[in-house]
Amino acid sequence: MRLDLQQVRSFHNAGFIAISQPVIDRRNLAKVRDIYDRMFESRAGRAEGNQFDLAGTDEDDRPAALSQILYPHRYYPEIRGDYVETIHDIAQQLLGPAVTTEIFHAILKPAGIGAPTPWHQDEAYWEPDRQYRSISIWMPLQEVTVDNGCLWFNDGSHEWDVLEHRSIGGDPRVHGLELVDSSVIRDAVPCPLPPGGVTIHRNRTCHYAGPNTTGESRRALVLSASLPDRPYVGTRQFRWNDGKDTRRAQRAAEAGRTDQTGAPKPEAVD
Ligand code: NI
Repeated sequence: MRLDLQQVRSFHNAGFIAISQPVIDRRNLAKVRDIYDRMFESRAGRAEGNQFDLAGTDEDDRPAALSQILYPHRYYPEIRGDYVETIHDIAQQLLGPAVTTEIFHAILKPAGIGAPTPWHQDEAYWEPDRQYRSISIWMPLQEVTVDNGCLWFNDGSHEWDVLEHRSIGGDPRVHGLELVDSSVIRDAVPCPLPPGGVTIHRNRTCHYAGPNTTGESRRALVLSASLPDRPYVGTRQFRWNDGKDTRRAQRAAEAGRTDQTGAPKPEAVD
């Protein structure tokens, strides 16, 4: 899929782009959706801390308000398809030929109870001593609208520093982060999409998704495309991550896993 010059310029100026043309055909989308639903029903990756409630305290016996699975292809390798190559091709047009593209996570906003995803920058989750050059490619598996939780972006925010974040609601048991002061958001643009369309945003672009008030779950699959990260020049701290006390991290520690930040780590599929 070729982006035109205006799309590429718009992405670099705004820090995001919405592409309505699907990157996956209907038949393969139905297949991915079926795998996706089985994956969430089985809570794939839970024991390792890779499935958790992003927006809640993540008790075993409570339905998740916003269920996330990191690295879903580790558990369901068949979730990969030709769409990964199509997205890689788009990523190369935006970041250049050296980019590495991989499935990153899946995020399910359940019907009726799906919580909002507060304004945040993805880089706030990652390592403060690294300089990132990455994009997230967000692909809904059904139509997304303002009512079921399409993404919103703040125009131009990819050029901001990483702003002050905290755990959602100020509760360190919650994995998800939110901007402490969301009054900086003044140019919010909603991006409704058809099934299999994509939005693409930079690692510092501020974004948000509303609650799902519809009767159908909102399914999204997120890929990451990155150039190699570099050491961060200067010093900075992400104190909001140091104070976290999540069940997810406990499970990861018990399983002997060290990749607890959720930073993008494109990798070969096992
Ligand atoms: Ni995000």
